[in-house]
Amino acid sequence: MNPENVGVVRGERPFEVEAVRADFPSLHQEVHPGRPLIYFDSAATSLKPDSVVQALDAYMAVYPSNVHRGLHVLSERATEAFEDAREAVASFLGVEDSARVIFTRGTTESINAVAMSWARSALQPGDAILLSELEHHSNLVPWQMVAKEKGLELRFAEITDDARLEMDAIEAALTDRVRLIAVTAMSNVTGTLPPLADIMDLARRRGIRVLIDAAQGLPHGDLDIRRLDPDFVAFSGHKILGPTGVGVLYAKRELLEAMPPFMTGGSMVVRVTRDSAEWNDLPWKFEAGTPPIGEAIALAAALRYLAAFPADQVAAHERSLLEHAHEVLGRIPGLRIVGPTDPAKKGPIASFTMEEAHPHDLAQLLDRHGVAIRAGHHCTMPLHTRLGIPASARASFSLYNTTDEIDRLGEALESIRAMFRRRASKPTPAAARQTSPAH
Ligand SMILES: Cc1ncc(COP(=O)(O)O)c(C=O)c1O
Repeated sequence: MNPENVGVVRGERPFEVEAVRADFPSLHQEVHPGRPLIYFDSAATSLKPDSVVQALDAYMAVYPSNVHRGLHVLSERATEAFEDAREAVASFLGVEDSARVIFTRGTTESINAVAMSWARSALQPGDAILLSELEHHSNLVPWQMVAKEKGLELRFAEITDDARLEMDAIEAALTDRVRLIAVTAMSNVTGTLPPLADIMDLARRRGIRVLIDAAQGLPHGDLDIRRLDPDFVAFSGHKILGPTGVGVLYAKRELLEAMPPFMTGGSMVVRVTRDSAEWNDLPWKFEAGTPPIGEAIALAAALRYLAAFPADQVAAHERSLLEHAHEVLGRIPGLRIVGPTDPAKKGPIASFTMEEAHPHDLAQLLDRHGVAIRAGHHCTMPLHTRLGIPASARASFSLYNTTDEIDRLGEALESIRAMFRRRASKPTPAAARQTSPAH
């Protein structure tokens, strides 16, 4: 094991946005003639720095071998890099026991694993799972499935009209039968930051397990997994500067040891007979089949890249982007930001609706200006129903964005609004006939 490759080295590189932008090859392109890319879709998937591209490329080009079972040089190299990647994830999370880091395909698979394995085996009919109204379908549908199967109750902590999640709402939704609180660390629509430390205190007092959906929370700000010490954490590589196809489930050792595998096959067994199998040790017990090898190695490169900047400097940059976005968007008549109005109380996401235009039209027209945003329900249909809107347009920011780009978003939205208003005020052919002088 090469120690330099394993851990993440924190805060060694001062944050400087232009230097950061130079590291992201996909930023340097025109998406339409004369329109350089402005990428505000990082909540869907982030861009990837050179070091991630190179890590994946090196695996593909030089040592594209399977892990754990070869005795040749390439396989040993792949195995070492893959297991080093696990150490890098543990080091990024600030935890010591890397056997608690399970590689999955992403947040969705990680949460499904907890639902299919832990909830199925540890919960009894009548037990309850507490969610919030903010949750992504990934942190809702797996619980619906297991609830139906096992006769569990799903309970929901209600949000305020501006999509804040308060402790009062969580306490109001608690019953003695709640065995798990499964909550997002940051809403992928409103940027809401649930009070995780207080949730953890409450859960510890009441002996309730906690799952944190860190898909959006981990890439930004100061999600301190070591201090919070939740029972389960799920996140995706592709939202934290890494590749698609890899994610992590991090969980308490005693829970992982008691949980049955959620998927079976090769690699996760030590002995197999015609009618039985004996599970491998952690973490491999939960990694059936060939894992996402190059992707895990590239994820480690992403975490090393991100950790190299002082976290407070990245957070300050992203906060200034969000503050600027609230200011710029707030000046556009008829535009309404969805969720908390105070940018200090949310993550770097600004979702909005505009009186004149459907979010899908906005996204399409912004694309012509080179601005990539996302529109729709963002896999949070119940949240949109609660907010009384069918869809929203979402601009999400990351460390490589600039306030100038946000100004250009504002200008593009102004011109789109002006276009819709011109159209709305243009008389229809019938109305034009009525108002035109008679011949
Ligand atoms: C809060 C949240 N949870 C879960 C997911 C699912 O992540 P993935 O599709 O990478 O599994 C997402 C993706 O948008 C998300 O934003």
